[in-house]
Amino acid sequence: MTEKISNKPFYITTPIYYVNGRPHIGHAYTTVASDCLARFKRLQGEEVFFSTGTDEHGMKIEKKAKEEGKDTETFVNEIAVEFQSLWKKLNIEYTKFIRTTDPAHKAPVQKVLQDLYDRGIIYKGFYEGLYCVGCEQFKTPDELIEGKCPDHGRAPEPMKEDTYLMKMTVIQDELIGRIERDELRVAPEKYKTEILSFLKKETLQDVSISRKNVRWGIPLPFDGTHTAYVWVDALLNYLTVLGWKGEKEDIPKEWPADVQFIGKDILRVHATIWPAILMHLGIPTQKTLFTHGHILSGGKKMSKTMGNVIAIDDMLERFGTDGTRYLLMSAGTFGEDVDLTMERMIEKYNADLANGLGNLVSRVLKLSEKLEQGQRSAENSRQGVSEEFSKLISEYRFADALQTIWNKVGEANKYIDETKPWELVKTDTEIFTTTMTKLLLDIASLAVSLRPFLPETSEKIAKALETGTVEPLFQRI
Ligand code: MSP
Repeated sequence: MTEKISNKPFYITTPIYYVNGRPHIGHAYTTVASDCLARFKRLQGEEVFFSTGTDEHGMKIEKKAKEEGKDTETFVNEIAVEFQSLWKKLNIEYTKFIRTTDPAHKAPVQKVLQDLYDRGIIYKGFYEGLYCVGCEQFKTPDELIEGKCPDHGRAPEPMKEDTYLMKMTVIQDELIGRIERDELRVAPEKYKTEILSFLKKETLQDVSISRKNVRWGIPLPFDGTHTAYVWVDALLNYLTVLGWKGEKEDIPKEWPADVQFIGKDILRVHATIWPAILMHLGIPTQKTLFTHGHILSGGKKMSKTMGNVIAIDDMLERFGTDGTRYLLMSAGTFGEDVDLTMERMIEKYNADLANGLGNLVSRVLKLSEKLEQGQRSAENSRQGVSEEFSKLISEYRFADALQTIWNKVGEANKYIDETKPWELVKTDTEIFTTTMTKLLLDIASLAVSLRPFLPETSEKIAKALETGTVEPLFQRI
């Protein structure tokens, strides 16, 4: 264990999610992962700040509200509530949920823009390019496949307009250096390579930071005919969520973020525009930017037209909160694309949760009824997590960390089959007691490791060890 030298809380962020539609499984994936990490850190005694929220401005949302026949404010309010209620159902314990329409966010964004403008880092210009409304980003021709945005399957719209631009070339070398030296660690490694090759390829173009024809946004303080580009607005949430007022001399103690979890489609903005803003402001850049892959369904990108969408509400209904958390986090390597199908998830739920863990706990408790008074509770001591488990979590290898728990579940179930305590109790009570003591300790320790991932189940196991009875943890489907 490395010793903590400062009392800086561990700060972890999720992206803030667009409110153009209801929350989906992809949003849940990052948020559950962040929650598991946050809970693990708290369990280790660290103070944690865990932020999430909603990204509510921009053209895409303005358009969507219109399509729905709703006034934009009403529309975004409704969807923001949907996110909050999903996080409740998934048992997400964030520290703060930020909405970019919150006045406490808008004021510092305007302050930053004014400051950068006053220092000539933002200047008036003109921008011509291909804009993908889905991404809310200008696209270069080499980012397109057959003229279409690979993430949205549509051709971006040609756009030409007066805009304010932020200088990028001045920070380019410094940014490359920080990423190379891991001062700004881009992980997993392949994304570090990808971003470095992008940054080294050519001179960075200055970034358009305002939109003239978008009304639904934060007005530029020095030109009310423009609103702030939605990404600049959104990225600053990582500071404003901490209560930052926009004063460079007064940076919240949680900053820099220890880890920012993002999906692969938003790596580039997070590794270029975001550090550029910070560097221009003279604020430290984030420590780690960890990129995860996408959830695919049956090997394909999920889409309504393909009819292969796995709805998070469906998952919750079938598998419950902990079942859903487990299936998301054990689906594959965090950092790679992971493929899900409902059939496989049902199988895994039955095998790992109902039969594996659930069965183990109920068997051990049932057998422990035969122990003499006082022996069972006496062994229910607190256990720590293994070093291997801690290490895997510190490397964000959630599925591997879970696998170490399930190896123990398997071993314990096998141990019961081999030692046959139900026979021992009749033939050798001393060995029976030692056998059961080991098993009770095993599940006590499993309960501790499970806490970050399956908080309710962990709590139920701990209670069961106290009372000696347990309802089935997971019902077979
Ligand atoms: N609002 C921006 C982020 C601003 S952060 C300053 C945004 N929002 S989003 O709602 O479109 O996407 C948020 C996150 O969801 C991204 O990290 C994206 O990678 C992730 N996912 C979207 N679909 C996904 C899957 N199918 N699987 C996993 N994550 C996916 O981008």
